[in-house]
Amino acid sequence: MQSWVEEIDRRARETLGQGRVADYIPALAEQDANRFGIAICTNDGARYTAGDAQEPFSIQSLSKVFLLTLALRAHGDALWQRVGLNPSGMPFNSLTQLEAERGKPRNPFINAGAIVVADHLVSAFATPSKHIQDIARTLSGNASILIDRHVLASEWQHRSRNAAMAYLMKAFGNIDNEVDAVLDAYFSCCSLRMSCLDLAVAMNYLAADGHALATGKSFITPDLARRINSIMFTCGMYDAAGDFAYRVGLPAKSGVGGGIVAIVPGRLSVCAWSPALDAAGNSVAAQHALELLTDKLGVRIA
Ligand code: DON
Repeated sequence: MQSWVEEIDRRARETLGQGRVADYIPALAEQDANRFGIAICTNDGARYTAGDAQEPFSIQSLSKVFLLTLALRAHGDALWQRVGLNPSGMPFNSLTQLEAERGKPRNPFINAGAIVVADHLVSAFATPSKHIQDIARTLSGNASILIDRHVLASEWQHRSRNAAMAYLMKAFGNIDNEVDAVLDAYFSCCSLRMSCLDLAVAMNYLAADGHALATGKSFITPDLARRINSIMFTCGMYDAAGDFAYRVGLPAKSGVGGGIVAIVPGRLSVCAWSPALDAAGNSVAAQHALELLTDKLGVRIA
């Protein structure tokens, strides 16, 4: 498999130069568009890396997977009274459906949905951002993972759209805590810096029936892992989930920092990263890498 990731690294780099680095959060615009990394973690603990796989980057919406996992672990299906389970067909930061649908976001992987999930975290923990940082450290086995204060400050400064969503949802009774506290928790999660290798290891529980590699213990039930994979498959790639399913055919989650995590249930987790994004907000080179990987593995699940 090591020779495969090296070949994928070479071929994915041929797409560098396509797409654009996210700039609506100014700190993200500082990323170098020419970086590319890939890391695979198999369920037996083997790790394969190539390129900039050990370079920490802003995980952004990849954190929505950790947030959702914690909320479902704590509250189970009660969460679905406050957040939907269907693709939105709209950009991840759209407000359009929220008013018409009385403050209930379409799914937990768009910003509004993750803000509701972050509200759960604020209710449950005295220091929610520290809790999520601890979870990232525990699941990856890397105790040096940090929240990037520069990105966090930039997100806070440019929070208007997310704040508008949060206040609208609060007006509909779907946010319990103060909006500023919820946004701080949400932005802190987005601002975690992790590498492809950290993320492939940390999210391996989704490939391994809920069993966390770094702790050697069960993190969630097999049933919950299966359900989270289903939501990733239908909603994880913004409004391009259908395109991605056609090209790659795996449950996956994307972030505007350029990372994509994908899961081959029962077998492995993989993270590819490159900062330049296509029009839907998905990394051009990372998508290409995952397409090459599923072709090699012959394991599309759909
Ligand atoms: O709130 C934002 O817009 C970013 N912190 C996260 C964006 C992202 O990666 C896409 N989300 N679904």
